Amino acid sequence: MLTADLLERTAPLYDRVRSVIPPIEWPSFAEDIDAILTLKKQRNAVILAHNYMTPEIFHCVSDIVGDSLALAREATKVDADVIVLAGVHFMAETAKMLNPNKTVLIPDSGAGCSLASSITAADVRLMREKHPGVPIVTYVNSTAAVKAESDICCTSGNALKVVESLGVDTVIMLPDEYLAQNIAAQTRVKVLTWAGHCEVHERFTANDVRTLRAENPGVIILAHPECPPEVVAEADYAGSTADMSAFVGREKPAKVVLLTECSMADNVCVGHPEVSFVRPCNLCPHMKRITLPKIRHALETMTEEVTIDPALAERARRSVERMLEVR
Ligand code: 13P
Ligand code: SF4
Repeated sequence: MLTADLLERTAPLYDRVRSVIPPIEWPSFAEDIDAILTLKKQRNAVILAHNYMTPEIFHCVSDIVGDSLALAREATKVDADVIVLAGVHFMAETAKMLNPNKTVLIPDSGAGCSLASSITAADVRLMREKHPGVPIVTYVNSTAAVKAESDICCTSGNALKVVESLGVDTVIMLPDEYLAQNIAAQTRVKVLTWAGHCEVHERFTANDVRTLRAENPGVIILAHPECPPEVVAEADYAGSTADMSAFVGREKPAKVVLLTECSMADNVCVGHPEVSFVRPCNLCPHMKRITLPKIRHALETMTEEVTIDPALAERARRSVERMLEVR
């Protein structure tokens, strides 16, 4: 029940997000937040949240936040019994692979990813047959079964380093065609691609970038490398969600656009009131399936648990661990 006591307890949390959550909306979040904080203690649970979570999740109940690379790295250090992954299914699978003996929960197992569903393990085997001896670098936005068929994983934050760490002249990069093309533009390594796309980032166009510049003189435009290469070419900087956030903190541009999922700007602007955010953004329908009531329900009922066949998880984990060894 929403009591005066509860509102007082959660008031310091509201202070963090008051710039992005109107006061009238806060009571609808406060009760779930309070319950989640209690449940985390009772279950000895931590919440790992991706940068695309809405601000009340990102700033008010999460223990660790970040891009896919940070979430994978942090998942290797978790000391709790239970991990709740506030993000999409492939992220929860990665956390489970790295923590086979812990309980990993996802608040909505329907939170997929258009990249992960663009390729199957059989497709990867066919690519290997077609290009014998060429290493397969698989974006973490993929299923455990696809990771298990791969040589090494990468994220948008380390893809160039991973490709160049292999010491070969050709690699296969799956499944994101645009990420692969954006990396190919920065290296002498030949990159063979797969035609998977992110349904959120593929919608940005070079014309959007030109219009944004014309309408906002001096604006700095940051793009995620899942955007088409012509968008990245017209942007001022391209990087993972963590790289974009770090750029804003470092450079403190007067006016900035993040060509990515909508919650990014909300989460980054909380720490940078001096930066003005122009907000053309696209919503990820998968990330937006994760809500406070579902996180609360996951901790109350200990569902939905993420499981992976141990033999498959072992092979998939090798690809993720190889990536984590690249510095
Ligand atoms: P990051 O690794 O940059 O956080 O990206 C994950 C993702 O799904 C972007 O769409
Ligand atoms: Fe997948 Fe794109 Fe959503 Fe990221 S934003 S989870 S790549 S569909």
